[in-house]
Parts: sequence; C-alpha cells; structure tokens
Amino acid sequence: KKILCFETIGSTNDHAKKIAKESEEGTIILSEEQTKGRGRMGKVWHSIKGDGIWLSIILKPDIPPYHAPIITQIAGLSVVIALNELGVKSSIKWPNDILINNKKICGILTEMSIEIDRIDHIVVGIGMNVKTLDFPNDIENMATSILKEGYSLNRLDILSRILEKFEEFYTDYVSNNDIEKIANMCKTYSAIIGKDIYVIKGDKRRKARGIDINKNGNLIVEYEDGSSEELVSGEVSIR
Ligand code: BTN
Repeated sequence: KKILCFETIGSTNDHAKKIAKESEEGTIILSEEQTKGRGRMGKVWHSIKGDGIWLSIILKPDIPPYHAPIITQIAGLSVVIALNELGVKSSIKWPNDILINNKKICGILTEMSIEIDRIDHIVVGIGMNVKTLDFPNDIENMATSILKEGYSLNRLDILSRILEKFEEFYTDYVSNNDIEKIANMCKTYSAIIGKDIYVIKGDKRRKARGIDINKNGNLIVEYEDGSSEELVSGEVSIR
C-alpha cells in the first residue's frame, strides 16, 4: 500500500479527496503539519508541525452509504486498541472521539463521496495529539495529548499499530459484513455507556444517560423523563 508523506499540507483529508479517484484503496496521506486542518462541523483542527499524527486513509468499500458510519467506528476502535496495547488507557466517546482521562486525544473525520446511490470512496481522517502541550484557550479544558497525560511514546510506534489494527478490522468487516462485532467492541471501550451525558442538538443540550451501543452501532440514550432514543449520529458530552 502507498503512504504519501508531506512536510506540510493544507489538510490530508482534502488531499485524499482530490486524489481518491485515481488512487488505490488503502492509500494513506500523512503530514507533519496541516495549515488548514479540519475538524467536524466546520471546526479548525490545530495540527502543529511534529506535534501529532495527522493522516487520512482512502477507502473504496462496496457497502451501502448508510453503513458508512461503521467506518468511523472501525477507525476509533483501531486507535483505542492501539493505545491500550501501548499502555495508554483510552476510551471512545461515541461516535468518533478518543479520550484519555475524559479529555480528547484524537478525533476522526470521515467524509464520503457518493455516486448515484453507491459509495465511490470514503476518506477517514485521524488526528491525534501526541506531543502538544499548549492548546488554544477555547479547547484547553477539553483537549489533551499523549505527552500531556504523562506518556512518552514514539509517533511511529503509535501510527504503525493504528494502521495494523485498522487493516485487521477493516478487512474483516468488508469480508464478513459483521457490524454487530464492531459495535460490540466499541461498546467494550465506550466512555459513555452507563454514564451521565448530554445529548447535544444544535445549541440545545439535554441531560441523558448512555445505555447501549446496539447491533447497528447506534447509541441508545435514556432521558430524565424515562424516554429513550436511538441516535444514528450526533454529538454527546460527558456530564
Ligand atoms: C474532529 O474531532 O472534529 C475530527 C478531527 C479530524 C482531524 C484529522 S487530522 C487529519 C485529517 N485531516 C483533516 O483536515 N482533518 C483530519
């Protein structure tokens, strides 16, 4: 598989999307720095030179578009298991944040391109703070890095393990289509099952409790009035 490495780039996701059509599945874009790193919901993703792992993977799975969220979960699972094997206790805040001590260490941005009603390609972007010590004021309380949490790990060791896990889970998923297996693993590593959380919708947040990640990989929450909801995608925070 091809790994394209850059010293600097706007965004590895943008580059991946640009070359996706003529690239082989599994092509990886890596950069030491991103000048226009993007997070979910139009947010900026700070990607200082040498501070983290900023990468994108080009995928071409033959799955229906509505199964695409599972790709994000496969990425999250790969990160969490890689970190845990390296002795860093981490968990998944459904659907796509990785936490250490309830602070965000890694985010995932999955973008897909659909043609008619089939997936042409999916780009999975993974951003992990490894050596970052200073975060901008607005995210200082929520964000952390491997180093800030007291671990000194080599970026290459983390990266190679993430890619190894991702290949294992992704290959298994496209050959067996076993979403439930991934969902169950995500549940094992979940930061929010059995916890008090907020479900965030637009500028409203509602008190809830994380109940389950079901066989489709969706999050079941229960509100204070006893009603429950199955979330296919969305945003939650820990109370
Ligand atoms: C989030 O939590 O909001 C998602 C963050 C995703 C960041 C990664 S870094 C590599 C890739 N390129 C980008 O521009 N974004 C993703």
